[in-house]
Amino acid sequence: MDYKYVNLVYFTGTGGTARVADAFEQAFLNQSINVHRTELNGKNQPVDSCDLLVVIFPVHAFNAPKSIDEWIEQAPPGRGRPVAVISVSGGGEISPNTACRAATNQRLKRKGYHVVYEKMFVMPSNFMIKYEDILCAMLLGAAPRNAEKAVSELLTGICHRTTPFWIDRVASKLGVLEKIGAKFFGKCLKANENCINCGWCAQNCPRGNITIVNDKITFGGTCVICLRCVYGCSQKAIEPGIGKFLILKGGFDLRKIENKIGYMTVFPSVEQVTQGSLLKRVKAYLIESGEK
Ligand SMILES: Cc1cc2nc3c(=O)[nH]c(=O)nc-3n(C[C@H](O)[C@H](O)[C@H](O)COP(=O)(O)O)c2cc1C
Ligand code: SF4
Ligand code: SF4
Repeated sequence: MDYKYVNLVYFTGTGGTARVADAFEQAFLNQSINVHRTELNGKNQPVDSCDLLVVIFPVHAFNAPKSIDEWIEQAPPGRGRPVAVISVSGGGEISPNTACRAATNQRLKRKGYHVVYEKMFVMPSNFMIKYEDILCAMLLGAAPRNAEKAVSELLTGICHRTTPFWIDRVASKLGVLEKIGAKFFGKCLKANENCINCGWCAQNCPRGNITIVNDKITFGGTCVICLRCVYGCSQKAIEPGIGKFLILKGGFDLRKIENKIGYMTVFPSVEQVTQGSLLKRVKAYLIESGEK
């Protein structure tokens, strides 16, 4: 395929999806293809002039976050333009994640886009289940290799579409309820007495959900539970009022893992770090990337 100009549109909460976008950008640049990046942070307008659109999102309750739905809603008509839909999850292509791209595909189709390629990437889990550092390091290392592969398939015209299990479609539809829950989660967030009023959270919330009113950190109703503010506040001052079980006890910081990678001396096999049925598709993903 003769793609000259690619538009990468992505949403990220805690940086995993941004790293997958980095990997795609590099893989396209390696093929001398121009790339325009649009990170959805509540301020961007759609970019029309591209001959391939790549939409990348973190999986939230077996779906795309609301920012992706809203971008598609106000995007220009697709007029048959090809799109690759890339989901990024903690669990990989496991049930019920198999249906996580279905609603996005439908939205794009209604807008006149032609989905030619779908793929699940895996990044460290940022909620409920904490992955070991070595597994996180392996996943960070796998993204560029799997993005090279995906870009090469896209350029050779390989159409990669998947069929979700029907039961996963049901779960994915029920997962939409998370979007309603997210409003409450956002409204119930609180900045505690450790807050030093640095303003970082208000400047960096990708939904514009945080404002400072009379020196008080105030949370609104546009949250998507991306967890950026909770993990990113330097004072660990942001606490959820509901859904505390979602938050990883030791925090979540991909930069810390990246800084550690150079010092890691023990490299177990994929088999050793992906024990248990919950990680079976994470294991498959790592093996696909060439990890042993
Ligand atoms: C609210 C929420 C819901 C999530 N739901 C799922 C899910 O249904 N399946 C899954 O495998 N991972 C799920 N995850 C994990 C993220 O998809 C994963 O960690 C991803 O890499 C986060 O991307 P980001 O760092 O760009 O935000 C969820 C994370 C959050 C915060
Ligand atoms: S990032 Fe943390 S310390 Fe800074 S204003 Fe927000 S809650 Fe307060
Ligand atoms: S309020 Fe926090 S969790 Fe909600 S969207 Fe903003 S940064 Fe993400």
